Parts: sequence; C-alpha cells; structure tokens
Amino acid sequence: MTAKLILGTEIREVILKEIEEEVKEIKAKYGKVPGLVTILVGSNPASVSYVTLKIQTAQRLGFHEVQDTRPENMSEAELLALIDKYNKDDLIHGILVQLPLPKHIDEKKVLNAIDPDKDVDGFHPINVGRLMIGGSEVKFPPCTPAGIQELIVRSGVPTDGAEVVVVGRSNIVGKPIAVMMMQKGPGANATVTVVHTATKDLAFHCKRADILIVAAGVPGLVKPEWIKPGACVIDVGVNRVGEKISEKTGKKVPILRGDVDFEAAKEIAGWITPVPGGVGPMTITMLMKNTLKSLKYKLGLM
Ligand code: GUN
Repeated sequence: MTAKLILGTEIREVILKEIEEEVKEIKAKYGKVPGLVTILVGSNPASVSYVTLKIQTAQRLGFHEVQDTRPENMSEAELLALIDKYNKDDLIHGILVQLPLPKHIDEKKVLNAIDPDKDVDGFHPINVGRLMIGGSEVKFPPCTPAGIQELIVRSGVPTDGAEVVVVGRSNIVGKPIAVMMMQKGPGANATVTVVHTATKDLAFHCKRADILIVAAGVPGLVKPEWIKPGACVIDVGVNRVGEKISEKTGKKVPILRGDVDFEAAKEIAGWITPVPGGVGPMTITMLMKNTLKSLKYKLGLM
C-alpha cells in the first residue's frame, strides 16, 4: 500500500485563500483589518527566519503588521512594558512574542502578561483552560495542534471513535492535541492515549493507533512495524540531521528528518505527512487564522 500524502504546503494555500477573502470582506464592511505584532528579542537565526515568514504571510493577507525587534540585552521590565503598550493598542488583535527568549527574561511571566484576548499563540493559562473546557469556550487553539487537526479533517480521515495515539507530552503539541482530539465534536471525539519517555512499551501503543501523532523530537523514533496498516501518521518532528548544499541557492541548508521513518512508513500507512512540507507550514497558517478570529471576536462576529 502507498499512503496518501497529507501536504501541508497545499492545504496551507487553501486556508490562506479563505483567510484572504474574509479579510477583504471584513475590510469592505467594517473598515478594519486584523493587526498582528511580532516581538523578537535578539537575533537568534532560527527565530529571525520564523519571524520573517510570519511577517511575509501577514502582509500577503492584507493584515496590519508590526514588527518590533529589540536588542538581546533588553530588560524583562522593558519587555513587559512593551506588551502592555500593545495590549492597549486598538489596531493590534494578536501579540506574538517569539520564543525562546534570552535567559535573563522569565518566559512564563512574559506570556502571562499578554492579554488573553490577544494571545493568538494560545499559550496563556486562560487559553489553555479554555481549550480544556472545549466547545465554544475555545478562543485561540495553539497553532501547531490546530494545524494538525486541520490536516486530519481536510484529508477526510475519520476521527469519531478512532484510536488516537500521541507520542510526546509537551505543552505546545502533545498535551493540547491530545485534549483537542478527545473533545466532543467534529474532527475529534476520539479515544486518546498519550505515550512518553516513561512509557513501558511504545510499540504496543503505536500499533493500536488509527491516528498516530508523533511529536517526540527523536529522528526515526517510530519504526515502520509499529504502524497499523491504513493508519493516519502525522509526523511533527523536525530534526536537523546534517547539512547539504541547496540546488536552488547553492547555500548550505539543514537536512531535516521527522520522528518517523517516512520511506518505509508510507508503504504501510493510509495517510502520512512528509517532513518537511507536512505539519510545518500549518503553524503560521493557524497563527493567521487566530489573528483573524481575534478581530472577529472584537467586532462581535463570533
Ligand atoms: N518559537 C518557535 N515556535 C514558536 C511559536 O509557535 N510561537 C512562538 N511565540 N514562538 C515560537
């Protein structure tokens, strides 16, 4: 069997078009556009490239986009004051503080200072609580899990009563996607198992999965023989395993590998995401969707 490829690169384009259309309609009717500020402290190269992509996507969609880059030695108090400024700014509907922050700044304190109604990352404890309650309580689902759920739903993978196994228990992916998939409602309503570093028999659990979501950060962790024939495999891992020269640019680029042995797994699974080009492109897409939602909440449209 050869699995159907779930291409985040293609599904992203469909969702971005939907967002772009909605932005145009809201602008014509209410004279307002979603506003997103991206705060970057320092110049970590990976963060700079993520932020650049976020800015380009926001601009393409016609958002009001503010890039606020600050020096590495900015104090925690200065950053908190900056967040307060954007909390009060009526043109800004989404505040994103790019992580990781320099060591002298308390990340938890910073994330907790963002107005929960502008927390488009969905990292504030209030939004984590809203996600846990589910249904109409949920305002901003965290972007990577929201992207995973979109991939599953838009690929027509049945979830109702499905056995979902999540490998990994991080606050950003494992825990929230487990909660989202077990909630009552469409694209969820699954029976969820979470496995992690203390799990005794990983293979046993993975073999039972109709939908296997792997976010462990260990290249090739999931072996092909652990995959149930016909299962949907979502690989969230993005592991740098070396470098190569890009054919396009002639520059050095990282070689990326997922947490699943893709080549062998695609012969067994029913659906599978590649790395890169699977889950990765969805995170920024869902950030844009959350920023649009934030404006819609403000206008009373949701
Ligand atoms: N750094 C890497 N990924 C993310 C993300 O999704 N949100 C924020 N704020 N920082 C990140």
